Amino acid sequence: KRTYVVSGSASGIGAATAALLRDRGGRVIGVDLRDADVVADLSSAEGRTAAVVEVRALTDAVHGVVPCAGVAGLTGVDPALVVSVNYFGALALVRGLHAELAAAGGAGVVLLASNSVTCQPGWAGDVADLCLAGDEDAARAAATATEAVQVYPATKAALAWWARREGVGADWAGAGIRVNAVAPGLIATPMTDRLRADPELGVFADSYPTAIGRPGRPEEVAATIGFLLSDAASLVVGSVLYVDGGTDAMLHPRVP
Ligand code: NAI
Repeated sequence: KRTYVVSGSASGIGAATAALLRDRGGRVIGVDLRDADVVADLSSAEGRTAAVVEVRALTDAVHGVVPCAGVAGLTGVDPALVVSVNYFGALALVRGLHAELAAAGGAGVVLLASNSVTCQPGWAGDVADLCLAGDEDAARAAATATEAVQVYPATKAALAWWARREGVGADWAGAGIRVNAVAPGLIATPMTDRLRADPELGVFADSYPTAIGRPGRPEEVAATIGFLLSDAASLVVGSVLYVDGGTDAMLHPRVP
């Protein structure tokens, strides 16, 4: 039986991913602020350590880690919280379970990037660079100087860059751990319900372009994550896969 660790498992894409992996016969250890096997706050160093310790107490081998826990850059959200949960919280879980992933003898990590990286102009490049450099204090300080809406894509860019840079290295690909990322577009979850209700940003949810004429469903993102974790994706390493109903292709038809 394969064991998977999914954060953000109480809601949206994380819940759909946990359900899909369980349906396929896997064991899922969910991590979230509530309603999870491991209840932990991934925004803080203490919470991340507690999460990793508790997961390690439950299993010796982990076949996949999917850090879905995330915070949207909505009006009134602390931009520093977006940095800490989306980037540092996600990678703390992945890094903290490296030994268990290596012990599985073939494992996968799927990071949650976003097509906001390519589809939303003007985001905070300095925050992305500081995330990738691993400097949480500096990234939080830089984030606080801007707006949460421009910090969110920065955290997602840094995750995609990390998947590409580190995913091909000796620690990950070399240890039989395939690291990839998905870049979803607008997916109908509690997160985007809150986007629709946002007094300033809600208008963007209503005018969001897709080739298929509708937002995505969390199950559609989960299906892609399930593929990337499966043996069928054995050649897919360090990739960032758009799962967005065509939005990125509509905006950038000539980008490879
Ligand atoms: P959601 O808001 O429905 O679920 C997020 C989950 O993360 C919640 O259960 C929440 O409790 C948990 N969480 C938040 N802060 C946490 C913390 N400090 N510690 C532990 N858990 C925490 O969000 P959704 O839509 O399912 O998003 C999942 C991931 O997919 C996020 O990383 C998001 O940025 C990403 N994504 C979502 C898109 C969308 O349109 N919904 C598009 C692109 C990416």
